[in-house]
Amino acid sequence: MAITSSLDSNQNITKNPKNTKNIITEKKQQISEKKFEIGLRPESFSDFIGQETLLNNLKVFISGAKKRGEPLSHMLLSGPPGLGKTTLSGIIAHEMGGNLRITSGPALEKSGDLAALLTSLKDNDILFIDEIHRLKKPLEEMLYSAMEDFVIDLIVGKGAGAKSMRLSLPAFTLIGATTKLGSIAGPLRDRFGNIAKFQFYEESEMQEIVERTAKILKIDIASSASKKISLASRSTPRISNRIVRQLRDFAHSENQEIINDDTCKIGFAALGIDNLGLDEHDREYLRLIVETFNNNPVGISTLCAAYSEEKETIEEIIEPYLLQKGLLLRTSQGRIVTEAGKLVLL
Ligand SMILES: Nc1ncnc2c1ncn2[C@@H]1O[C@H](COP(=O)(O)OP(=O)(O)OP(=O)(O)O)[C@@H](O)[C@H]1O
Ligand SMILES: [Mg+2]
Repeated sequence: MAITSSLDSNQNITKNPKNTKNIITEKKQQISEKKFEIGLRPESFSDFIGQETLLNNLKVFISGAKKRGEPLSHMLLSGPPGLGKTTLSGIIAHEMGGNLRITSGPALEKSGDLAALLTSLKDNDILFIDEIHRLKKPLEEMLYSAMEDFVIDLIVGKGAGAKSMRLSLPAFTLIGATTKLGSIAGPLRDRFGNIAKFQFYEESEMQEIVERTAKILKIDIASSASKKISLASRSTPRISNRIVRQLRDFAHSENQEIINDDTCKIGFAALGIDNLGLDEHDREYLRLIVETFNNNPVGISTLCAAYSEEKETIEEIIEPYLLQKGLLLRTSQGRIVTEAGKLVLL
């Protein structure tokens, strides 16, 4: 399977020009180390840990499509960054015997860019569009007929002499990835035969992922250490991969061939890694609710103003992990910090 990308790795970073803290960019940069990630990417279903329901359904859809000799239905994958959306798309391409072509919503400027990409596909290829919620409207509209009827209509020429030309496309599968399911327009969303949501990984799954990474990186790891790393990784494989790699350096600098509790202690302290995977943005956010608003339920627009951050950043980047850890509650009246959340501020 060939994997081609029309993305420079940095283009994948969501830019947030308004704010000075630019949390999205910072968090993505912190956890995005594309080159290093490639070697750790699971290449088959058997290597892919967790997301059981999603995977089980997907296997059924793939086997059905293969039996009928049809392309797999278009898929929309949603979920926070670093949980395996791109990785899974590679596995799907492999299973379907096609190539994976990678691009992203912001990287596609003109209708011609998308048309060129679509017409260069072959049967069974997977076109992966990351951040599909950021696709421009005319391009999104081009996808409607491409997805439904495998055709696109292009306008050739200008003014009175302009003509519409219909082009047929191969039987491809579109995989759209998004961290913002709610921002996908209805007509586009409805054209996906399968909408799958990535969940944060369970602690035991994270531990398995940590141990797999250590094995690939050829470093032994004590099970107490893999547990500590899995707890500090925000339930996100990309983060645990980075921590294992960094701790391997700490172990080697002590002439050790194993990551153990001591390596974690020294490494976590040196790298500022929190045992629960929280960073200063998380604490600042929780503290704002507890201290400025006396932990009375506070609405999202008030929080955006008080935290000088966009709604999207708060809802898509900061809150999901705090909610998952039970540190924050979203009630109908607003956000409040839980007792567990207050404890992490002590
Ligand atoms: N289920 C998994 N099992 C093992 N490793 C995984 C799994 N999911 C992800 N990884 C690891 O995490 C890294 C990040 O995954 P990936 O790039 O697919 O995330 P993503 O959801 O596409 O992120 P983004 O939204 O930022 O594009 C991969 O390189 C891979 O090594
Ligand atoms: Mg990705």
